[in-house]
Amino acid sequence: MKITQANFVISAVKPEQYPEDALPEIALAGRSNVGKSSLINRMIMRKNLARTSSQPGKTQQLNYYRVNDMVYFVDFPGYGYAKVSKKQREQFGQMIETYLRTREPLKLQLLVIDSRHEPTGDDVLMYGWLKHYGIPTCIVCTKADKIPRSKWDKHVKAIKQKLEADPADPVVLFSSETGMGRDQLWDVIMNAISH
Ligand code: GTP
Ligand code: MG
Repeated sequence: MKITQANFVISAVKPEQYPEDALPEIALAGRSNVGKSSLINRMIMRKNLARTSSQPGKTQQLNYYRVNDMVYFVDFPGYGYAKVSKKQREQFGQMIETYLRTREPLKLQLLVIDSRHEPTGDDVLMYGWLKHYGIPTCIVCTKADKIPRSKWDKHVKAIKQKLEADPADPVVLFSSETGMGRDQLWDVIMNAISH
C-alpha cells in the first residue's frame, strides 16, 4: 500500500467527538505495550505519528488517524496495565464497549497480541466479546522479530489455541520493527473495507 496521506485527527473520549464523515474504521485493541501504536506507524510508514512508548499506558483515548482519505485507524488504550486506577480502567472499558457496540463505520477489529506470550485472560475475554457481537476480527501477532523463525508456527498455533480462534478469522504474524506482515495486513484491511 502506497501511503499518500496520513494524519492524526482527534483523541476522542466520547462519541460526539468521533469523526462524522463515515469513512471505514479499523480499530486496534490489545494489552498495554504489545505494540498497537507501533503497528499503526508501520502500516502508514510514519516513524512516530501514533505515539508509542516503552512505558505502558501511553494511549489513553481513542486516537484517530486518517489514511489516504480512505480509512481511519483507531488506536485504543491498552488493557491490563496494573498502574491505571480502577476508576480509569472502568472508564476505558465503558468507552471501548460503547464504541464496539455502536460504531457503525467499524469494519474490522485488530486484536493485537505479543507473539512471544500466551494470550492473557483479558485477551480471551476481548476475543470472545468480539465474536459475541459479530465484529469482523483479525488476530495480529506482533513483535515477531523477537522470536526465532523456527518457532513462529508454534507460537501462532498456541495463540490460536488459547483464544479458541475461529478458523475463519485471519491471523497475521507481524513485526513493526522489520515490516513483516505489513502487506498481508493491508490485504485483510482492504478486503474488510470493500464489503
Ligand atoms: P499502549 O499505548 O501503552 O497500550 O502500548 P502500545 O500497544 O501502543 O505499544 P507501543 O506501540 O507503544 O510499543 C511498546 C514498546 O514495544 C515500544 O518500546 C516499541 O518500540 C516496542 N515494539 C512495538 N512493536 C514492536 C515490534 O514489532 N518489534 C519490536 N522488537 N519491538 C516492538
Ligand atoms: Mg499505544
